[in-house]
Amino acid sequence: MPELNFDKVYASLNLRIKDITNIDEFDELTKEFLGKNSLIAEERKKLSSLSSDDKKNYGRKLTEATEFITSEIKAQRQLFLNSQFTSREEVENTDISIDWTPSRGSYKHVLSTVMDEVVSIFSSIGYEVAHGPEAETSWHNFDALNTPDWHPARYESDTLYLDKNLDTLLRTQTSTVQIRHMEENDPPVYIVAPGRVFRSDQLDATHSPVFHQLEGLAVDKNLTFTDLKGTLEYFVKEFFGNDIETKFIPHFFPFTEPSAEVLVKWQNGEWLEILGCGMVDPNVLSNVNYPDNYKGFAWGVGIERLAMLRYKIDHIKNFYDNDIRFLEQF
Ligand code: DAH
Repeated sequence: MPELNFDKVYASLNLRIKDITNIDEFDELTKEFLGKNSLIAEERKKLSSLSSDDKKNYGRKLTEATEFITSEIKAQRQLFLNSQFTSREEVENTDISIDWTPSRGSYKHVLSTVMDEVVSIFSSIGYEVAHGPEAETSWHNFDALNTPDWHPARYESDTLYLDKNLDTLLRTQTSTVQIRHMEENDPPVYIVAPGRVFRSDQLDATHSPVFHQLEGLAVDKNLTFTDLKGTLEYFVKEFFGNDIETKFIPHFFPFTEPSAEVLVKWQNGEWLEILGCGMVDPNVLSNVNYPDNYKGFAWGVGIERLAMLRYKIDHIKNFYDNDIRFLEQF
């Protein structure tokens, strides 16, 4: 009995697969090799005229061939699909932004550098870093900080509120973290709180509606104004250099009593204000239920201000423009 030459069938299948350029052609191939008019189907029709032994043997061979062709087409179809994805990936992975300028590596934004430096000056003398949310309650931003209802800082013209009742707002100062930290921790406290603050300010050379501050707070049993002065003078010298002269002048903040501003003497002889500070008002300590034998001092410093002074930057918007020619100078 003449049998189908299976090797020839497989060889022609291989040839046909090599020529495939479109995924749909695999379906046509299945039809051609296994469909109604295929050689295999023709052979099956002959089975009924064979002796039962031949029928069994040849029938098994035809089934094996069918299985082989089915699995071969399936496997080749998958390979074809994979190769299509690979070549598509090669094309689409080309990052058109990557070669137009030579890579310069990456570096920190100048504000992050200054912030990190200020934090590390204070952490080297024992201060820990604390954080608080940017969306705050009026309690944490004003009331607990001894700021009365009538205080101008609370006006909607100065503060970005988040609701009509003026109960929630974008924090205008990192002093909020003082309250949050003391609400959750017993004294003594030595913390600095770096972060972003928001005010309803127009952009000008020295003001931006979003800027950065670092708040500091120390609460302990025998703290005095001398400790405050020593700590901040140490900071100013570490940051601006040992030769810098500082002076403290009286000021007013609702949450400190007495309060002061620290000024540094610039090269041209001008005195420039760099931070606000004071002895924590006893009302603030009692708002967080601290025992009254504790005293504290606190300060708040603007990071943009420090960076502008040190690097002689004349407009605050330089920090946010993200102009590489500005940023890469630091
Ligand atoms: N929160 C003040 C501001 O944003 C800065 C400040 C002043 C913080 C005095 C203090 C402080 O802790 O004692 O202008």
